[in-house]
Amino acid sequence: MALSHTDTSEIIPGHGILDGEALMNLAERYSTPLYVYDGDQILKNFRAFQKAVSNLDSKVHFAVKANSSIAILSLLHTAGAGADIVSGGELQRALTAHINPKDIIFSGVGKTDDELLLAMHLGVGQINIESGAELGRIAALAASNNLKCSIALRVNVDVDPGSHEKISTGQNSTKFGLALTDGQAESYYEQITAHPNLTPSGLAVHIGSQLRNLAPFETAYNELLGFAGHLRSNGFDVPCLDLGGGFGIDYEEIMHPDFTEYGKMVERIFKNTEYKLGFEPGRSIVGNCGNLITKVIYVKQGIDKRFIIIDAAMNDLIRPTLYEAFHRIDSLAERGKDTSKADIVGPICETGDYLARNRQMPMVEAGDYLAVRSVGAYGAVMMSNYNTRPEASEVLSYHGIAHLIRPRRTVEDLIKMEINPFL
Ligand code: LLP
Repeated sequence: MALSHTDTSEIIPGHGILDGEALMNLAERYSTPLYVYDGDQILKNFRAFQKAVSNLDSKVHFAVKANSSIAILSLLHTAGAGADIVSGGELQRALTAHINPKDIIFSGVGKTDDELLLAMHLGVGQINIESGAELGRIAALAASNNLKCSIALRVNVDVDPGSHEKISTGQNSTKFGLALTDGQAESYYEQITAHPNLTPSGLAVHIGSQLRNLAPFETAYNELLGFAGHLRSNGFDVPCLDLGGGFGIDYEEIMHPDFTEYGKMVERIFKNTEYKLGFEPGRSIVGNCGNLITKVIYVKQGIDKRFIIIDAAMNDLIRPTLYEAFHRIDSLAERGKDTSKADIVGPICETGDYLARNRQMPMVEAGDYLAVRSVGAYGAVMMSNYNTRPEASEVLSYHGIAHLIRPRRTVEDLIKMEINPFL
């Protein structure tokens, strides 16, 4: 794909490798906090996923929620990615990246009328519904607007994915999917089949994110296959099975995921079953491909530990404080081998504002750069403007060129939409 070398792009010296020096140069050029992504590796990961499931009739839809940068979606599109979206906003992003509506799957428990209508008008490939109420709404909207659409039922197979509770979706105690135990799912599938404006496209499952073990996937997929077989034996058309995302990554080391065993497991379960399979990986494609570069503002010696106060904060990366998530943090300065425990904290006025706690860190000084690793997924997309902090900017490196893909907004940008009725 030809990406133009514009004013907001620059050649990365040293064969285009994003080593510490290149990251420091980018930080100097674009200032910090700064997200830097490795576009070549993102494509490699995506192609590795495609290859792992290529013995089956499959289509891989990138989960846009993990990283919704239009430049990254555009790159993935060149590799044949479809998109898994969860809002009208993500739909517009996918279209802006030239992803064909037919290659888009619309997931989520709370789609509004406007979002459903937009998706139907545009001819989105598949809408995954998660409740009887949603089915009723979509059926009414399709009929009254004379629209047609393909519907899959997201089922809840009641499997514990063994992940953090806030990102586990597979159990009946969560808001996701339709249980298989009360007969509702089958009756909804029958209603879809009977409706003149709706076409059944199959079933979907997604049991959670950051799964580090294949066993829960295997249990969930077997449950799904069992239910699909049951529907088929009752005469229903079940063309596709959407197997969701969830493949976890290594946050301790910057290691790129190996999908081989996952692919073999999927093949074992689904070979000779004649379903078209859909996949929705997010984190595993982009997670290890992002760094958040931040500058040390102060070092403060507390009573029993150091505080490394940096210019990135929980508004730039919420994962450590929201999920107690671990992100490896490396100093890009070279100050010897001595280390001691430190909390790496931002400038925001709450104790929860940290990127790491009690972390063994080398000596650092004000002005040094740190690289927070593996922030390519659920990093920049979860930024906020808390404390009226403009978000970090984002740079994408691709084929040795660094492209600024999202400049930092100014404070003026942030406040200009507000209305003061007292002026
Ligand atoms: N499909 C559906 C229906 C999903 O809900 C998700 C993620 C995915 C696919 C992609 O899953 P992945 O391959 O990325 O695991 N903010 C959290 C993660 C939330 C995941 C939500 N759903 C975090 O920072 O860990």
